[in-house]
Amino acid sequence: MPLTIIILAAGQGTRMRSSLPKVLQPLAGQPLLGHVLGTARELLADDVCVVYGHGGERVPETVGDDGMRWTLQAEQLGTGHAVQQAMPGTPDGNRALVLFGDVPLLTTGTLRRLLEQTAGDELAVLTVEMDDPTGYGRIVREGDNVVGIVEQKDATAEQQAIREINTGVMLCPASRLRAWLDNLGNDNVQGEYYLTDVVAMAVTDGVRVRGIKADNWTEVMGINDKKQLAEAERALQARLVDELMAAGVGFADPARVDIRGKLECGTDVFIDVNAVFEGEVYLGDGTKIESNNLVRDSRLGPATIVHSNCHIEGATTGQGCEIGPFARLRPGAELADNVKIGNFVEVKKSTIADGSKVNHLTYIGDSEIGTGVNVGAGTITCNYDGANKHKTTIGDNVFIGSGVELVAPVEVGAGATIGAGSTITKSAPAGELTIGRSKQVTIKGWSKPVKKEK
Ligand code: UD1
Ligand code: CA
Repeated sequence: MPLTIIILAAGQGTRMRSSLPKVLQPLAGQPLLGHVLGTARELLADDVCVVYGHGGERVPETVGDDGMRWTLQAEQLGTGHAVQQAMPGTPDGNRALVLFGDVPLLTTGTLRRLLEQTAGDELAVLTVEMDDPTGYGRIVREGDNVVGIVEQKDATAEQQAIREINTGVMLCPASRLRAWLDNLGNDNVQGEYYLTDVVAMAVTDGVRVRGIKADNWTEVMGINDKKQLAEAERALQARLVDELMAAGVGFADPARVDIRGKLECGTDVFIDVNAVFEGEVYLGDGTKIESNNLVRDSRLGPATIVHSNCHIEGATTGQGCEIGPFARLRPGAELADNVKIGNFVEVKKSTIADGSKVNHLTYIGDSEIGTGVNVGAGTITCNYDGANKHKTTIGDNVFIGSGVELVAPVEVGAGATIGAGSTITKSAPAGELTIGRSKQVTIKGWSKPVKKEK
């Protein structure tokens, strides 16, 4: 049977106390809803429908359209009412799987199990056992079958003692669901149309209701406030780091790393404490990331070492590069093999060829640097004239002395040497020594001023 996944994401999320809608709160660098959509995509659903409401168009605009249906629930009248909004576009012959936008850690493994263990004409709810079930809908069973779900606020004292709760995930034939939803009432303590009421209707119609238990609570935890958001973050980070460790990546402390995106690693990669990875990052074989580094959307080649306290974004390195401590690689920094970028060096939109070294206190921007170049301490490529950016080209085997300003556009020929303290405004020829600084003079017999008596 074809599968429709309906994701409920219209709720307000008052307890977040945030101007950002709850389903857009970030978890591992991605909106909560993005995680649920990722799971839906992995399940290869035939049809995905997101019910949105609170936060308005900001929700679809942020998450983006990836072939799913977006249905507005203008007024939030309850989970049953929310699912009803998705029904007009849902074919009768489909199975409908309901997921919550604020339950981001569900695994495809658990959902596949739910899909496999439930026959096409049955209803299934995903449940979990909790030590403290306060606040959740309780699963009422008769023998093996589920016969109802009672919300906390509507439950009797006896029902409140039940520890098996409703996670919110529900699976059933779309045709049946449509009929049940049409008959929902809101005669309950909250005056809402409860999705959970369809369970009792199924029982009345002689449809078997399965309660399938999730293995652990973290997977199905719903995020309602910042504390739960932080708990989910740690749970997800632990899961991501576990996967990487299983693949052979070494961590000094698995609890002190953050992956906000996709981190891919070669063999024998080692990551020290407080490393943050954002976007898509690739670390080649034998790469070592020392403590306190941020690496975003970058590819680091094999055996590259990033010393402590670097900020790396949109950069690529070849083999055997050494970066930092305290270096900044900005978008478009492309280092070839065995390049060294030392402390307090910033590189932006520049290519640096094999074996070149920029070791201390330097800004390299909009530049093309050849092989075997040595850039002295305190060198600045003056790439910006206040209106436009200009290029600096430095040939192979150039030696640039300390404290040099290269006023772009400017070219330094291969093998040239630039004297320390020079301000280079015209092209410097290959193979020659060029010096652009005022001559040093000594004033002989000059005497120091003396303090006047008052
Ligand atoms: C719901 C379940 C409860 C379950 C719990 C698990 C119902 C009636 N109750 O309760 O059995 O134990 O989740 O976390 O289903 N939403 C809408 N539109 C609405 C209302 C809600 O889209 O009108 C969305 C919310 O954005 C959220 C989800 O539905 O993603 C759950 O809503 P919420 O109000 O948090 O339900 P709970 O009271 O937690
Ligand atoms: Ca909830």
